[in-house]
Amino acid sequence: MKPARTVFVCRECGAHASKEMGRCPNCDRWGTMEEEPDRPASDDPGAGPYGLASGSGAARLYAEIEANDAARLTSGFDEFDRVLGGGVVPGSAVLLGGEPGIGKSTLLLQAAASVARTLGPVLYASGEESEHQIKLRGDRLGLGDPPLYLFAETCVERILEEADRVQPVVLVVDSIQTVYTRKLLPSAPGGVGQVREAAAHLLAAAKRRTLPTFLVGHVTKDGSLAGPKALEHVVDTVLYFEGERHHSHRIVRAVKNRFGAVSELGVFEMTESGLRAVPSPSTLFLSERASSVPGSVVLCSMEGSRPILVEVQALVSSGAYGTARRTASGLDHNRLALLLAVLEKRAGLDVSGEDVFLNLAGGLVVNEPAADLGVVAAVASSLRNRAVRPGTAVFGEVGLAGEVRGTARAGLRIREAAQLGFTRCVMPASNCAAPGGGGGACEQVGVSTVEEALEALIE
Ligand code: TYD
Ligand code: MG
Repeated sequence: MKPARTVFVCRECGAHASKEMGRCPNCDRWGTMEEEPDRPASDDPGAGPYGLASGSGAARLYAEIEANDAARLTSGFDEFDRVLGGGVVPGSAVLLGGEPGIGKSTLLLQAAASVARTLGPVLYASGEESEHQIKLRGDRLGLGDPPLYLFAETCVERILEEADRVQPVVLVVDSIQTVYTRKLLPSAPGGVGQVREAAAHLLAAAKRRTLPTFLVGHVTKDGSLAGPKALEHVVDTVLYFEGERHHSHRIVRAVKNRFGAVSELGVFEMTESGLRAVPSPSTLFLSERASSVPGSVVLCSMEGSRPILVEVQALVSSGAYGTARRTASGLDHNRLALLLAVLEKRAGLDVSGEDVFLNLAGGLVVNEPAADLGVVAAVASSLRNRAVRPGTAVFGEVGLAGEVRGTARAGLRIREAAQLGFTRCVMPASNCAAPGGGGGACEQVGVSTVEEALEALIE
């Protein structure tokens, strides 16, 4: 027998090379090339094992295709359904990424139990924990007695055989890095080839059986999903689990969704009995706020379709050393540098020699331009050591000329502020009296320059 040919595949980007290399020729990372057996092309004939179930084998006229808008399955776990865009789409494949220990298994076990209770059997296959371990966790979570099947198995073919037997409404595979497919046997689970093949196999099965499938994926320290990035392209939905170990709340964010809005957000709190949905995240992110402290500003931010009020804090202090230090946590560092330059040039604030520390309370991350005005206000407030007028919330994008630009969804932001008892919104003039707004008790103070905004905000 001829020895099997091997190729070298990059663990990070999936690039191929025919010989061993220290550095990936595609993404330039060092030490990421792994040896994999080469799969002969004949293994993978056209519509072979990965053909789409719905494909009819020939092109069809657009108008003649029935829209198969099958009802979404609601898991009964509202916050989870929300991130998915309103529930689980039949036959969809969802990748849930996150750092180890952040709560992926906990969330999926709770969601699985919830689905099992309301819709029918669920198969939870784990290559990481034994059935007993999962059961122990489940007891802590108070899952009760739903038709939830646990299966400690790492072989994809075996998992799918069990799925044939159990006929679940949802399949969970925890995690994609611990399973393998027999087709690629000499290579170990976790390798780039195995991750890709195992995922492809599971996804093809998901489509063929219209079985919604959740895959857990571990994320490496630099934030990418371990294994080929290509995994993100083949699944329908990618959810990321965010949060800091030091905070009890966790955020699940949709970064890709073929069936719903992206950057949709679910906020959970990790308690002794599992993850609990936080129905009003604004309250959570503002809960420890000390009002009337210089440098603290409440920002109306949008996360997906949901407004969130969050406190931004700035501390400006004279730098002791030659170069000023600037740090921003939860906000973009470069954006901070830009906004400081605008403050300096357009609003006449002297921040050049000052250290500036910026922080979003609660470990939240916001990266929309509407946060600009809040950042600018927090820095100015700290620099002048004067608090922002109480009861005020802020949003607006700041341009390089010091102008304040309108933002999307002003109405929703104002309404959220009003609901939480804020009486004034300092906001872009062009957004005032936004249609669909109606802040109720919230006064809308429209501003068109940074200077005007600071006047309206700081006493
Ligand atoms: P886990 O879901 O195992 O993380 P992952 O699958 O992402 O690796 O989460 C484990 C962490 O969650 C662990 O540090 C303990 C904590 N935890 C709680 O605080 N309460 C609970 O009820 C459970 C089940 C876990
Ligand atoms: Mg886990």
